[in-house]
Amino acid sequence: MSEKLEKAREYEIKKEKMIPEEQRPLFHLTPRCGWMNDPNGFSVYNGEYHMFYQYYPYDTVWGPMHWGHAKSRDLITWEYLPAAMAPDEEYDKDGCFSGSAVTMDDGKHLLVYTGVRREEDENGGMHDVQTQCIAVGDGVNYEKYSHNPVVDETTLPEGAGRFDFRDPKVFKENGKYVMVVGNKTVDRDGQILQYVSDDGISWKYDRLLIKNNHRFGVMWECPDYFELDGKRVLLTSPQDMLPEELEFHNGNGTLCVIGSIDENGDFCEENFQSVDYGIDFYAPQTVLTGDGRRIMIAWMQNWDTCGIGRDDFPWFGQMSFPREVTICNNKLIQKPAREISDYYGKRISRQNVLISDSTSLSSIEGRCIDMTVKARSVGEELSYKKFEIRFADNGKAYSSIEYDPAANIVKIDRKHSGSRRAIVHQRRCRVANNRGEITLRLLLDRYSCELFINDGEQVMSMGIFTDIKAEGISFKANGELLMDVVMYELEKK
Ligand code: FRU
Repeated sequence: MSEKLEKAREYEIKKEKMIPEEQRPLFHLTPRCGWMNDPNGFSVYNGEYHMFYQYYPYDTVWGPMHWGHAKSRDLITWEYLPAAMAPDEEYDKDGCFSGSAVTMDDGKHLLVYTGVRREEDENGGMHDVQTQCIAVGDGVNYEKYSHNPVVDETTLPEGAGRFDFRDPKVFKENGKYVMVVGNKTVDRDGQILQYVSDDGISWKYDRLLIKNNHRFGVMWECPDYFELDGKRVLLTSPQDMLPEELEFHNGNGTLCVIGSIDENGDFCEENFQSVDYGIDFYAPQTVLTGDGRRIMIAWMQNWDTCGIGRDDFPWFGQMSFPREVTICNNKLIQKPAREISDYYGKRISRQNVLISDSTSLSSIEGRCIDMTVKARSVGEELSYKKFEIRFADNGKAYSSIEYDPAANIVKIDRKHSGSRRAIVHQRRCRVANNRGEITLRLLLDRYSCELFINDGEQVMSMGIFTDIKAEGISFKANGELLMDVVMYELEKK
C-alpha cells in the first residue's frame, strides 16, 4: 500500500471518532470524514452493495481526490470500509476522479476511474490530462494495474478533447465489457464515447454514443447507460447549462435521455428530461439489484450551491436516498427504494382533514420521516389557490413545499432554513394537471428533503441544515382542501 493511502486510512479512522452520530443523517451516506462528491463504483459485489465516492478526507472542501468506500446489505445502512484509492501514481497524481465498478469473470472487483495529471503546456498554461485507469481488488483492498492507463488520448476520435475525458461507467453486456466516458470536444461540446473490452483490461474505442450538439450545457460529466423497461437510458450531468422553462436550470444539472438501440447498436434519442427538479442532485449512478431493480443514487449536492453546508460539521456532502427507477410513457419514474419500510417506526395516519389557514396535526412532526400527503379540492371546483407544507420548523427557521393547483407548479423553498449564503434556495417544477389533486411524498433525513411528486413523476431534492431540534410540521391552504396523510417515523434498526 502506498504511503498516501495508508495515511488516508489512518486519518479517517481517527477523524471519524470525532463526528457525533447526530451530526450525520440517519440513512444518507456521508463521507467518513471531510469532503464527498460523486458516487463512484456503485455495484453489487459478493452479494453486498458497494459504494465508493469522490473523497478528500483532510478537509471539508474539494481537494486531491481519493476514493472513499462503504458497503451495505440493504442500500440504507452503510458500513465504512477503508479508503480504496489515493492519488499516488504518476498518471493519477492530481486525482483519482469518478468511475465505476463491475465484478470480473474471475470474481475480482474491477474499479475503472479517471486518472488526472496536471501538465504544463508550451505557453506555461496548466491543463489536466485525463485518462482511464483500472484497479483490481477483493472488496476492501485494490491494486492499481501496472500498465495504467488503459485508455488514453491516443484512442480519441477526431475532434475529441484530451483535457476533459472522464468518469467511465463500466458494465457487462453480451459477454463483453462496455465503458461509456464523458468528453468535451475541441469546440466545447459534450459527448459520450463508448469503449469495449473482452477482459476489462484492454480496451478499444467502439463508437460515439451521443453528441450534445450544444443543446444541454457544455461538458457532459458522469454518464450512466443501461436498459430499463424495454428502453435505453442515458444519464449524464451537464456543466454550464442554460435554463429552459422549469425543466432545466442554470449551471450544473442532470439530464436523462430516453431512447432505444437500433440494429447497429447505435443509440437513438427519443426524450429528454431532468432527473431531479430540486436544487441538490448531481452525478447519479445506478446499479442493478439481484432481483432486477435499477437503483439510482446521486450526490445530493450541486457544485453551484456548496455554500449550503454547516461550518461546525466535519463532513461535507451526502448521497441521495437510493431510488428505484422505471420508465413509464417514456418518462423516468423514481421511488424511494422499498427497503425503507424496514425502518418504519410509529405510523400516524389521518383521513379527510380539512385544511385552511394553518393546521398542525398532533404527532405529525420530526426530522426523520417518510410522509405521504394526498390533497384534493373540497367538491367539484378548485377550492384552493395554494397548499403549503412547512417542515423543519422551530418558529423561526423553516423550509417549505408549496403547490399552486391552477398553475400546476410545486415549489421547494429553504430560504428560511438558516442558510446565510446568497445561493439558490428555491426551485419550481411543473407537475401534472390533476385539477387540484396531488400526492406529495416527503422523505426527511435530518439534513435533507427529497420530495416525490405524484408517485415519482418528479422528484425535488435539497439539503437543509437547520438546527436538528427544528421538527415542526404544519399545513396551510389559501382556500380549503381535504388532505389524507400517512407518516412513518424512520428509525435505525
Ligand atoms: C462531477 C466531477 C467529475 C469528476 C469529479 C471530480 O461532479 O466533476 O466529472 O470526475 O467530479 O471530483
